[in-house]
Amino acid sequence: MVAQKSAKQLFSVTLRVWRQAGPDASGQFVDYPATGVNPDMSFLELLDVVNDGLTVQGGEPIAFAHDCREGICGTCSCTINGKPHGPGHGIATCQLYMRSFADGDVIVVEPFRARAFPIQKDLVTDRSAFDRIQQAGGFISVRTGAAPDANSILVPKADADLAMDAAACIGCGACAAACKNASAMLFVAAKVSHLGLMPQGQPERNQRVLAMVQTMDEAGFGNCTNQYECSAVCPKNISHDFIARLNRDFFTATLRSAFKPTSAASGGGAG
Ligand code: FES
Repeated sequence: MVAQKSAKQLFSVTLRVWRQAGPDASGQFVDYPATGVNPDMSFLELLDVVNDGLTVQGGEPIAFAHDCREGICGTCSCTINGKPHGPGHGIATCQLYMRSFADGDVIVVEPFRARAFPIQKDLVTDRSAFDRIQQAGGFISVRTGAAPDANSILVPKADADLAMDAAACIGCGACAAACKNASAMLFVAAKVSHLGLMPQGQPERNQRVLAMVQTMDEAGFGNCTNQYECSAVCPKNISHDFIARLNRDFFTATLRSAFKPTSAASGGGAG
């Protein structure tokens, strides 16, 4: 006789959520009891259920950002029990499941806290500062022509693997939210390294790192003081070693721009 699977053990939690009507409004924590929680629900599904209840009662649903719900887009950013993306490791909020919590838990949910990420509403922050950094140099504009045969530009395996690791960054902002300095250097390091490790990224390598770091500073992010909170909460496990690579690239680019020959001295040729 085949044994029946036991029914899922449903449980109850209390969500203690930061509610803030708008960017200039004052906020406060509000408790929302949730019963009948299935351990296989995702955290965002629980927020959906709570919001359904609020809507039926004529209340204002909790504003939270989400898009892909599979750890790709980086929009579901919020802080859960004091940790960006919650108690899991190497996952975004949308990949967090209720089985990570116990019956009776009070779960504190807040927006990401960083001056450069102003709160829009409830759990939604404006993280367009990351977009501005990306727009400052996180691209390749050199003409690469028609797609060449993959074997015509050889890339060492180690470089390809490292570039791939850096390219995994989804720009969620957890690194800055976790850092006591609200530093965005892990994000910038990932973007700079991803392109800087590829042959196609070399022509603009120096101007890229200078422009991205300048934009990062202008946005109000702090500097890295080697706390490594950033890589500890990164949903893509991006290593803080990339920050050392960023610093080396920035140092080299700064020197090269300081000693760049003038067009007269260089005979008008390209620098
Ligand atoms: S909703 Fe896209 S990463 Fe979470």
